[in-house]
Amino acid sequence: MSRIRALWAIGLAALVLGAVADEIPCTTHTSDGQYFDLNPLKSSDDYKFKSPSGNEYKINVCRPVASETWALKVEKPEEVAGFVRRDHGDFSIGSMNTTVAVTDGHPVLTFTEGTACSSSNDLRASTVIRFVCDTSVSGMGQPQLIAQLPPSDESACAFFIEWRTHVACPTHENGSWGFMSILATIVGIVFGLYIVCSVFYNYFVLQLRGFDLVPRYSLFSLGDTIEFIRGCVERIRSRGSDPWEGYRGVSASHEEGVSILSGPPGFLDEEDEEEDGMDRDGIIRL
Ligand SMILES: *[C@@H]1O[C@H](CO)[C@@H](O)[C@H](O)[C@H]1NC(C)=O
Repeated sequence: MSRIRALWAIGLAALVLGAVADEIPCTTHTSDGQYFDLNPLKSSDDYKFKSPSGNEYKINVCRPVASETWALKVEKPEEVAGFVRRDHGDFSIGSMNTTVAVTDGHPVLTFTEGTACSSSNDLRASTVIRFVCDTSVSGMGQPQLIAQLPPSDESACAFFIEWRTHVACPTHENGSWGFMSILATIVGIVFGLYIVCSVFYNYFVLQLRGFDLVPRYSLFSLGDTIEFIRGCVERIRSRGSDPWEGYRGVSASHEEGVSILSGPPGFLDEEDEEEDGMDRDGIIRL
């Protein structure tokens, strides 16, 4: 009994811990209850967009770029979120950031700590991506450069990108289940098993039919559940030691049926005696 209680405690503790550690990168909840998840945009193939003069930029979301980079002058080349090829080596437009901000109902990602800007060594390249919910766009959509500053491709150091995609639409949490939904699921499964087991037990062991099949034990009562399991076990055990019990029950009810048809045994005996007496008197016979 105490072991069962300990198991319950461990299970509950694990659930609570799971709920607390439940902070998934690249997702966010807004104060008005909306939920955004940009993880579907993660791609093994980098997205591309072009500057006005035709330079190609590569970018990824919620993960570093997948393409090979060359001579990147940043502290963490393995965390580069996007880059463009320039004469003296690849130029990072920012480091990966999985914190989603929401402004005016649009999810926004900010990448900072890119390569040092050519205009100033104190300033590092950065990028802002605004995601726009658009269900008419096929697939994941494409990033589109709105502006870069300074405007020339050689000195550009800040990038503003718009990305129309259905992934930017508010969605429902499915990957991350909250504590209550996990609990509700477990309770639901246990309840379902309980109903199914009870109906089988009532049908095959108690031989009930119709509405009697519906379990009548009060729900979630541990005592009743244990009593129910003990009852099951005892039934199975007694069946195992006395295989004829079931048939004996049937034959008993058969005898009962016959005796009911012919009236109660005591009544019959009395009548027999009276009939005998009447026979001897001969009053009724005449
Ligand atoms: C990551 O993004 C958040 C929200 O957009 C921003 O506040 C934060 O400064 C960014 N961090 C870095 C290191 O870029």
